[in-house]
Amino acid sequence: MKMRVLVTGGAGFLGSHLCDALLGEGHSVVAADNLLTGRARNVHHLRNESRFEFRQVDVTEPFDVGKVDYVFNFASPASPVDYMVHGIPTLKVGSVGTFNALEVARRHGAKFFMASTSECYGDPLEHPQKESYWGNVNPIGPRSVYDEAKRFSEAATMAYRRYFKVDVRIVRIFNTYGPRMQLNDGRVVPNFMKQALRGEGLTVYGDGSQTRSFCYVSDEIDGIMRLAHSSEQEPVNIGNPNEFTILDCAKQVLAVTGSKSRITFEPLPQDDPKQRRPDITRARTLLGWEPKIYLQAGLKLSLDYFREALAEDQH
Ligand SMILES: NC(=O)c1ccc[n+]([C@@H]2O[C@H](COP(=O)([O-])OP(=O)(O)OC[C@H]3O[C@@H](n4cnc5c(N)ncnc54)[C@H](O)[C@@H]3O)[C@@H](O)[C@H]2O)c1
Repeated sequence: MKMRVLVTGGAGFLGSHLCDALLGEGHSVVAADNLLTGRARNVHHLRNESRFEFRQVDVTEPFDVGKVDYVFNFASPASPVDYMVHGIPTLKVGSVGTFNALEVARRHGAKFFMASTSECYGDPLEHPQKESYWGNVNPIGPRSVYDEAKRFSEAATMAYRRYFKVDVRIVRIFNTYGPRMQLNDGRVVPNFMKQALRGEGLTVYGDGSQTRSFCYVSDEIDGIMRLAHSSEQEPVNIGNPNEFTILDCAKQVLAVTGSKSRITFEPLPQDDPKQRRPDITRARTLLGWEPKIYLQAGLKLSLDYFREALAEDQH
């Protein structure tokens, strides 16, 4: 069945790849984005696509884009640099923005898909993290503007399911990387890529022994699409369970870029999680989903994009 779909945050990194995937299935897509952390150029390649429409909309204000069959709620600053700078807008988009997007779904009898995050687990005391784990979040720390907004989004999504019978999906996205990420968003992969390609030192916080799992964007979008098509209404982790230390990741970036940069060490920021790895048993069993792209392969696939983005940045 061909649908008319709303993607909030559709000009962002993940939102724009999601628009591509939805269009690829033959649906019509409305991307609603206020361009706070996204860029019109992420959807520039879709400008002549008749099934695609971009609307510059702040979802924290009530909005309507007409009848839709599915709402994908991806609007929110996502990188620590962005949500630290835009703390209040992050809280607002996770709360008021999510309510407004849920209202669009309720009004039109549409399904609702919430882009949540592994940050809901905070600095986890359980490894790897299963969806049943309730998390260890500091509610007043600097990261709470994001973590608590997302936890609130999940609560609101489940409440709309309980009270209004909205058909909902919740994905908990773990660290995802790839083309169209912002160069300066402070996340590990773009940071290392930028520093390596510029021949600057690669900044590792702490001793680099903290671990992360990195999911390539095509794997993440595949998992999201599978969840969207499933009937699963409880949260599902989508992320790559292969764990790397930050130091390993820095070394892989040096290998892929052929850079001669050195690795430099700086103090750990407050509340930086020491370890984060998804348990993807639910995604495997419910969705038949498995990530396919290993870190080194994903870094190679991203290299051209980061080179171009860097060249533009320097102009
Ligand atoms: N990339 C990841 O690794 C990751 C991990 C976990 C969760 N997520 C979630 O996925 C979603 C997309 O993340 P991303 O990495 O693509 O980030 P991004 O910053 O590239 O995209 C977010 C988009 O939302 C838009 N936006 C922000 N506030 C808005 C508002 N009030 N109204 C309309 N649009 C608004 C931004 O302009 C941007 O285009 C976010 O909800 C994020 O929390 C991403």
